[in-house]
Amino acid sequence: QRLDFSGVWRFRELLNFCEDEHKVSIGEGQTILQQNDFIAKELGMDKGNVHLQYEGLNPSGSFKDNGMTAAFSHASLVGAKSCACASTGNTSAAVSLYAHSCGMKCTVFIGQGRIAFGKLSQAMDYGAQTIQIAGDFDDCMKQVQDVCTKLNIYLLNSLNPFRLEGQKTIMYRIIESLNWQVPDWIIVPGGNLGNSSSFGKAFKELKDLGLIDKIPRLAIINASGADTLSYLVNERGLKWNSGWVETKEINSLYTDFTAKKFSPHTIASAIEISRPVNLKKCLRSIEICDGLVIDLPDEEIKDAKAMIGKYGLGCEPASAASVAGLRRLVQDGTINPGEKVACVLTGHALKDPDITVNYHTKREGVLSNPPVEVPNDLDKIIDIIKA
Ligand code: F0G
Repeated sequence: QRLDFSGVWRFRELLNFCEDEHKVSIGEGQTILQQNDFIAKELGMDKGNVHLQYEGLNPSGSFKDNGMTAAFSHASLVGAKSCACASTGNTSAAVSLYAHSCGMKCTVFIGQGRIAFGKLSQAMDYGAQTIQIAGDFDDCMKQVQDVCTKLNIYLLNSLNPFRLEGQKTIMYRIIESLNWQVPDWIIVPGGNLGNSSSFGKAFKELKDLGLIDKIPRLAIINASGADTLSYLVNERGLKWNSGWVETKEINSLYTDFTAKKFSPHTIASAIEISRPVNLKKCLRSIEICDGLVIDLPDEEIKDAKAMIGKYGLGCEPASAASVAGLRRLVQDGTINPGEKVACVLTGHALKDPDITVNYHTKREGVLSNPPVEVPNDLDKIIDIIKA
């Protein structure tokens, strides 16, 4: 293991919980921040102000690897022999990869039919025991917590605080790429709310240490079909109350929410979650970062994804929620064209090709680009290309 290759452990002073001998690293965090002036123009932002942080460039193809290197290092420190997670797909891919890289047994829980094939294929290929439950992510999350407690298995979902320590480095790399300038806005999709929780912590710590002088605003984007955070914040007025929120209050809100027979449904399967485990920490981040939450329909997410494909390196559907969010927040005047924005693109385009192929072949949106059907005939092919 070469820790100097890791875009997480480069910042080891800011996640200082174990010695190098325990660190589990596979070269995660070598991701890039791209200034994307095409998208800036499309969205009516000033040139130079839209940046995309491609976390899909991690070894398992999503931002999860930032958190896994930290959590697996902690697991190794405490001598864990087996580990587990619930997942909409990316966590299970990352856990499976890190588990076999350090010889740990691994079980992943997924909701039947709720996972993109790119992600399912990774868990199987990396040798994890894959348990498909007849239920959704929230059902898996409940089962895995009980199983881990009963069997003394190390839990790797983002309620593990070491996951969030590692994910802080996404923010360090963004400001490092901007020559230590803090952007005005960070935009991120919200699912289980691990990223948004860790980003607030990252900025608070940097500010407390005197390494930055301002904290960016945080915009968290839910899919409308999985909008618990948006509903609780915007319609129920839930806040980080004088430093903390009563668990009882959240439990009763969650019960009330499910009593509405709400079942999450979005094409952005990665964020198809209705009871995010990091809700309390996320409310704290919103407080720290003067944050806001919006929810967007799948159509807007799909068009944003096509735009990132056409003008950038592409991403998976859930990731595109960040750029869809930027578009909406510019349209409604919340974000000004002169402000500097970084959108976190959480997962690689190849994680979920079905959604992409459907979008283009079924002409689902404004940027649909279906393949042209041509007979096996040179003249006809040439005619079509010329036309
Ligand atoms: N984007 C992608 C691509 C994800 O896979 C996830 C979460 C999120 C965004 C949401 O991030 O939970 O920090 O708010 N995926 C989890 C999983 C739940 O199981 O792979 P969050």
